[in-house]
Amino acid sequence: MNWPLLQDPPTAEPAAWMGSFWLPPAASATTDAVDPIFYFLLYLTSFFFFLIIAVTFFFIVRYRKRSDNQKTSALHGNLPLEIAWSVIPAILLVVIFVWGFNGFMALHVPPGNSMDVRVTAQKWQWSFDYPKDGVSSTVLKVPAGQPVRLTMSAVDVLHSFYVPDFRIKADVIPNRYTVLWFQADRPGSHQVMCAEYCGRDHSRMLTKVEVVPEKEYRDWLAGQKKSGLSLVDLGKEIFAGKGGCKACHSVDGSRLVGPSVKGVYGKEETLADGRKITVDDEYIRKSLMNPMADIVATYPPAMPPYAGRLDDEEVNALIEYLKSLADQPKE
Ligand code: CUA
Repeated sequence: MNWPLLQDPPTAEPAAWMGSFWLPPAASATTDAVDPIFYFLLYLTSFFFFLIIAVTFFFIVRYRKRSDNQKTSALHGNLPLEIAWSVIPAILLVVIFVWGFNGFMALHVPPGNSMDVRVTAQKWQWSFDYPKDGVSSTVLKVPAGQPVRLTMSAVDVLHSFYVPDFRIKADVIPNRYTVLWFQADRPGSHQVMCAEYCGRDHSRMLTKVEVVPEKEYRDWLAGQKKSGLSLVDLGKEIFAGKGGCKACHSVDGSRLVGPSVKGVYGKEETLADGRKITVDDEYIRKSLMNPMADIVATYPPAMPPYAGRLDDEEVNALIEYLKSLADQPKE
């Protein structure tokens, strides 16, 4: 049987590090958040593993039963010892927590100058959209030295985007967005895997991150440009046309039935129930699918739901369009 998505699937090539204890060669700035603490934990746990095994064997021999009428000596604890084995592990745990938390934050907060790529997972293929350029690709091609922010969503089931060389991994989920970033400074090719079982061809859901020099990236983009619309332009078209958004939302900041979308992306809004939210991909998507969920204060609950009326690409296009309105310098 010929599955249309599986023609010519990319394959995982065995690398020299596979089957070893060590992490693959570091290929992204994000590895700084993972490698030092990983090796710290590896050496720390190895040290205590061997120490405990050694002490256990020493005690087995040293305190073995030497005759039938030998009595166990009376023991009533040892305060300095008990303080030591409580305080030292407590300090180690706090160090591991703070270190790990800092790494977690570093992995989940992309640098401000990141380039945006949208990642879509489906059974059993990855696709990458370059929203500013109207380019779509099944290989993630990026310029060297450039931080890249991945905004990821799935169209069917749960997948997980995993690049071992970059130490980045996150679930990719239908109807939600998850974010990762990386910055690869040297040209090279890196394996992408799906790390969440997603059905029959999960193990073949593979592709590559190809890091190339800036010039080569520009040439590739130019060659890939579709005659069709960029996501931003598609969003603009839906906003004014199919979506009918402009009937209630102005793009110039004036007040209509609903809030203006001018500069709305990234803005903090107060909701009718007093909560404060930041307008991000997640909020815009939710507001399109279930508008009654989070009404902005002082506006009437008047918006119809768009669930089933806009597909994922159209929702992404609208978000990119709102984002492009926010990108413009303020007058
Ligand atoms: Cu997609 Cu496993």
